Amino acid sequence: MTGLFVTLEGGDGSGKSTQAELLAAWLTERGQTVLRTREPGGSDLGLELREIVLHRRGEIDPRAEALLYAADRAHHIATVVRPALARGEVVLQDRYLDSSVAYQGAGRTLDPAQIRDLSLWAAEGLLPGLTVLLDLDPAAARVRLGERTMYDRLEAEQADFHQRVRDAYLRLAGAEPERFLVIDAELPAGQITDRIRQRMAELLPA
Ligand code: TYD
Repeated sequence: MTGLFVTLEGGDGSGKSTQAELLAAWLTERGQTVLRTREPGGSDLGLELREIVLHRRGEIDPRAEALLYAADRAHHIATVVRPALARGEVVLQDRYLDSSVAYQGAGRTLDPAQIRDLSLWAAEGLLPGLTVLLDLDPAAARVRLGERTMYDRLEAEQADFHQRVRDAYLRLAGAEPERFLVIDAELPAGQITDRIRQRMAELLPA
């Protein structure tokens, strides 16, 4: 595999999409071919699964939810991400297995190690070369999301859920400091992009 796999993680409202956009523009300028994608919903099957996990009315059992995200992941990595990496592209992905460990593991209180193993099984062991964690206090995120009128199933969870998610992300980053770059999401967007670019430049071919 010759490409570079970069994932963006963080709570809802932490600015992942803004960063993905700015980074994609920079990479394209550098002459890289970039694939911007996301989970859930980065493939045709994934779009159907996304609709279920985010918008289904009525309860979804936590294990069923974990398996739906894993199904989305398996199909997405096999049919979209691996082919792009094989072509030598930079894949910029909004959310990946760390989201499952944080949201289904800590948020829904399933066993984080089992959730990680499930994701690794689904993705045949693929890990990102770099994972950017945009760290944000859930209270600040609420203020950012406050103008919205619609929340999806996970965004609608209570404050303690989002606090557990944040803590889980920070633990994950602490456990794999060489894969993670943790950035304070309250910094100005341009400064955040600069830091990510610096780290990516070390990983990209000259
Ligand atoms: P996303 O599309 O990133 O929504 P947003 O743009 O609002 O951040 O993600 C949708 C939701 O799915 C988000 O609340 C986090 C959740 N999620 C999980 O719970 N587990 C997962 O494995 C993934 C990828 C996302």
